[in-house]
Parts: sequence; C-alpha cells; structure tokens
Amino acid sequence: MKPQSPFSIYTSRQHLKLLSGLLLFALGFGFGIISSFYFVSSDAWTSPPPLLELTSRPSAIAMSSAAAPARPVDRSTAASKSPSEATMHGMTEEELLWRASMVPRIQRPPSAESKPKVAFLFLTRGELPLAPLWEKFFEGNEGLYSVYVHANPEFNGSAPPKGSAFYGRRIPSKRVTWGGMDMMEAERRLLANALLDWDNRRFVLLSESCIPLFDFRTVYSYLVDSARVHVECYDLPGSTGRGRFPARLRPHLTPRQWRKGSQWFDIDRDLALEVVSDTAFFPLFQRHCGARCFADEHYLPTLVNARFRHRNQNRSLTWVDWSRGGSHPARFRRGSVTAELLEKMRNGNRSCRYDGRRRGACFLFARKFLADSLDRLLGIAPSLMGFNLNAGKKLRGIDSIH
Ligand SMILES: *[C@@H]1O[C@H](CO)[C@@H](O)[C@H](O)[C@H]1NC(C)=O
Ligand SMILES: *[C@@H]1O[C@H](CO)[C@@H](O)[C@H](O)[C@H]1NC(C)=O
Ligand SMILES: *[C@@H]1O[C@H](CO)[C@@H](O)[C@H](O)[C@H]1NC(C)=O
Repeated sequence: MKPQSPFSIYTSRQHLKLLSGLLLFALGFGFGIISSFYFVSSDAWTSPPPLLELTSRPSAIAMSSAAAPARPVDRSTAASKSPSEATMHGMTEEELLWRASMVPRIQRPPSAESKPKVAFLFLTRGELPLAPLWEKFFEGNEGLYSVYVHANPEFNGSAPPKGSAFYGRRIPSKRVTWGGMDMMEAERRLLANALLDWDNRRFVLLSESCIPLFDFRTVYSYLVDSARVHVECYDLPGSTGRGRFPARLRPHLTPRQWRKGSQWFDIDRDLALEVVSDTAFFPLFQRHCGARCFADEHYLPTLVNARFRHRNQNRSLTWVDWSRGGSHPARFRRGSVTAELLEKMRNGNRSCRYDGRRRGACFLFARKFLADSLDRLLGIAPSLMGFNLNAGKKLRGIDSIH
C-alpha cells in the first residue's frame, strides 16, 4: 500500500461520496438560513418603510394583506368606526405581543435611509390638549421620531388634523383604570406597537399633561446617545412602598426585590423587548397585584431592579412637583406658567449623572400641565427652548445642555 498523502481522502471514491453528501447538506442548511433570514427581513414581514409607519398616510388598517395572508384578524374595534377614529391596525393583543416579541434585538446600523428614532408613547384618557406644543417641538425633525397614542377606547373626540404628528397614530386600546395593572397592559401595548418599527431605538412614556423642556435635537441626543435606561427605582420602607408588596408574589419575588418608581420611563429597545415578552413577572403581577398594589409604580421598577439594574440610571426624566404632598403632584394652570418656572425645570437641578459619569440636565419633560396652560406655553416655550433653531442642523451632543 502506498502511503496516503494528506489529500488522498479527496481522491478515494467512498470519501468522495461522503464529502458530496456533506456538501449537499451544508448547501441545504445554508440555503435554509439565508431564506429564513430573507423572510424575516423581506417585504413579507416588514420592510423599509416600516410596518406601521403611517404618519403621512390615512389612518387605514396598517397591516397589508401581504403581511399575513389567511390570518384571522379582529378588526372589530377599527372597522366599526369612522376613518378618523380608526386605529393603526387590527391585530389582536395576543398577535401584537407575539409579533413584537420577535422583532430583531440587534440594532440596524445607521444608514442614510434609516436613522434611529425615538418613539413617543402617549398614554392618555382622550384629548391631547397640548398637542400644538408638541407639534412645534416635532416640526422639522421628521424621520427621527414616531408617535403612538393609547386613548381610552370610548374616546370619540375629534381626530387630529391631517399633517399633524398625531394623525393616524392611535393604536387599538383597552380601558385603563388609573393605578391598575391594566395601565401596565396599556404601556406594554404601546411598547409592542412601537417595537414593530425597527428604527425605534428609545421609548418614552408620556401623558397628555406632559411637555418637553428642551428642543427636539437636544432631547433626541440625550436619549439616543445614552447607554442606560431611565426608570425611577427605589426602595421605600413604609406603607406606600414595601407595604404594598403582595404576599402572594412569594416565593417568586421577595420584598427585598420590590421597588417603587414613577411610571414615566425612558427605555431602550432591549428593555422594551423584555417587557413585551416578559412571561415571568407580568402574569404574576396580573394575578396578584390588585387595587392597593399600584402596578404602574411597581412593576417596571421591580423588574428592572431584579434583572437589569446595572443598566438603569434609576431616575425619571420627567419633572414633577410632589412638594405639596398628597397622592397627586402639583398641577400647573395658565397663571403659574412662567419663563422662570420652565427655566427651573430645565436647569434648576444640574446634579444628575448621565451614563454614570457626567453631570447634566436631569429632566427632559415635565408634568402636569393643564389644558388652559397651552397659550402661555406656546408663547414662552418655543423661543425659550429654541424649537426649530436646530432642525436640520447636525445633531448636537449631550454637552449642549451642560
Ligand atoms: C361620544 O362619547 C360620548 C360619551 O362617551 C357619548 O355620549 C356620545 O354619544 C359619543 N358620540 C358618538 C358620536 O359616538
Ligand atoms: C441603580 O440602582 C441599582 C440598585 O437597584 C444599582 O445597582 C445601580 O448601580 C444604580 N445605578 C446607578 C447609575 O446609580
Ligand atoms: C437635585 O437632584 C438630586 C438628585 O435627584 C436631589 O437629591 C436634589 O435634592 C435636587 N436638588 C434640588 C435643588 O432640587
């Protein structure tokens, strides 16, 4: 027998058969991966322009029939209403959460066509009385933000005018009782809708009484550049903190893990995905966090504390005045809105840490502003905050608000 060369394996007949078998298998496997990747990234799923990007289109049903052919879709909420009241799509809650839980985790590299966006999630009862202020804030920054509105399903007030940032941005909603777990469900609904747009990078929860404190570009940079999330999270002894821990959460959760915090969050894509696909804490809270438990103040802080504390800045970006005590923060009417007040909210407290290192502005938003404060806000805010001055210019860094 002649000595085998290192390559003799390739010349032997039997090995050749084996090798070609392997090769075919590898080819098939590769093709499978490529085609499934193609499916996920192709038009059949969602494509640029993203699935729910309807800003400039009538608020019709967003899901194209190509997206999922023979899928039974519950369009009852959307279809029975006039076009102006129709919501963005007709997916059922289960389908929405299921879809949202599978969106890509890895962020798309920025490119000319796709810039990271900030999703502004408005959790409202009905009207958005301060919408004109937000319009001014958004103006000139199209493509860098997306708006989602969760109003009470019964709300049948006038739809926002065409061309408004709020036009056609209402999502299918369910009833919300303040402080209940259904409020968390609404927040999760907003997150799930926003996750379907792959360009949404940050997710900010706001109410109808919230205002921005800086111009869009400053807010955008602050959020998109941050490696951390902003979820207020603290341990509070006493009846309004640890005292709310439902005993039935044991042994899955312990009172030591229980946290409290404002519901007005700023989170990133990773955490948003964790929230919509949370099958551990969420059902537990649904079952055991009742009327005295105030899920909206405890679910997210507790989840973040248990699993993502290293990435949390532990503070809210929304300014609120609790100084008067009681269970509701101070509300600002027309008469109390002054340039000094807004300056105080913007710059009164510069001692906050950003990404665990630098100091800068603490708050980007503030509440609670009543409807009658709109005129004053429109008179003071745009020039004070420089709305529009920077639209179209290069994005400024975080240094601008130092
Ligand atoms: C709108 O809602 C109010 C109260 O919920 C109700 O009384 C009214 O009939 C509704 N209007 C329409 C046009 O559905
Ligand atoms: C936030 O609090 C957690 C404890 O809940 C802590 O581990 C983390 O370091 C804190 N983050 C910052 C930025 O202080
Ligand atoms: C500024 O913020 C820090 C941290 O949130 C807080 O401890 C401090 O009381 C604030 N100071 C004022 C003047 O609001």
